Amino acid sequence: MSLPVRITGVGRYLPARMLTNTDLARIVDTAHEWIVTRTGIHERRIAADDETSSTMGAEAAREALASARLDPTGVDLVVTGTCTPDGMFPSTATRIQHAIGARRAAAFDVNAACTGFLSALSVGAQSIAAGTAERVVVVGSETMSRIVDWTDRTTCVLFGDGAGAVVLERAAPGEPGGVGALLLRSDGSQADAIYATGPCTPTAAALSAAALSAEAHIVMDGQAVFRAAVTALSESASDALARAGLTVDDVALCVPHQANIRILQAMARSLGLPMQRVVVNLDRTGNISSTSIPVALAEASDAGRLRPGDQVLLAAFGGGLACGAMVVEWSGVRAPAAPSAAAAGRRAET
Ligand code: COA
Repeated sequence: MSLPVRITGVGRYLPARMLTNTDLARIVDTAHEWIVTRTGIHERRIAADDETSSTMGAEAAREALASARLDPTGVDLVVTGTCTPDGMFPSTATRIQHAIGARRAAAFDVNAACTGFLSALSVGAQSIAAGTAERVVVVGSETMSRIVDWTDRTTCVLFGDGAGAVVLERAAPGEPGGVGALLLRSDGSQADAIYATGPCTPTAAALSAAALSAEAHIVMDGQAVFRAAVTALSESASDALARAGLTVDDVALCVPHQANIRILQAMARSLGLPMQRVVVNLDRTGNISSTSIPVALAEASDAGRLRPGDQVLLAAFGGGLACGAMVVEWSGVRAPAAPSAAAAGRRAET
């Protein structure tokens, strides 16, 4: 079943500071060739000292509102997928809600690590379907650089910072648009395969010795995560298509979580999906956790790779181990993503 919900706007924000593989080779014992061969990543963006998940999320949300030609006071709900919030509380979504001027909106975060955006999208779409909201801003925003252990070459080469956002609105009968399948899963038995410590981490040796450090940082069993990622992404995508009553031939574009090019190639092989129909931007962004999908979606929309009526397969995987997949019937955004200064403009007549 597909919910009558349209994506009417998209936005993204990537910080200006770029960190290349060559830059990383000056910090840890690594090499550009190793990183490209094993991951496909060439460079990633790193937040400035005064940037946070809420400031970047607000930039992306403003651009998405401008793209939807929607006044922020018309927004009912701001949901943010993030595993790198500005603080323990209040939610990052609350700070975004204030920054964009969505003064009537409820706001909260969901944390499903790299599956955070799909979880937030599911909440937003179901809120509209249930009638508790008409217009929802769904944000993915991450400051992974603040929880990366910059002495650990097995993880620090993988991650980047940034934010992406979409605007959801109710689709009128007969209008293109729909969010379907809404498949979300998790396997908590593998929660320690990839996790980040933090201020509330147990101080007893409940996790590993690495968890005892006061500073939040990522701990990962790369090979275990790699294997689980291929299986979970392929199964979620395939099950979501079946749930939506579609086959892989119906998929115009797949927008997956961007962790590693080899994971995406294995997923595509398993689904029988040509890589030409898989959006890849991890070479420029690295793994931005819950931000990956909305940034890739906004780039695909701006590049003209999506047409109204297209079936778009979204698939994500990450810490939890959480995974999910959804099928969005593309309705076409109202306007190409515009500079965020235009975000306050009132919606044009459509
Ligand atoms: N530069 C150079 N060498 C590195 C390195 C780096 N950045 N990171 C690890 N190595 C070394 C290892 O120490 C190891 O050396 P050894 O053989 O002397 O012990 C060697 O490279 C091979 O390591 P291995 O872990 O087998 O490499 P891999 O092919 O599995 O690639 C990952 C490592 C992390 C890239 C890969 O496992 C991966 O992408 N996993 C999934 C991670 C992920 O996506 N997490 C987020 C999920 S949302």
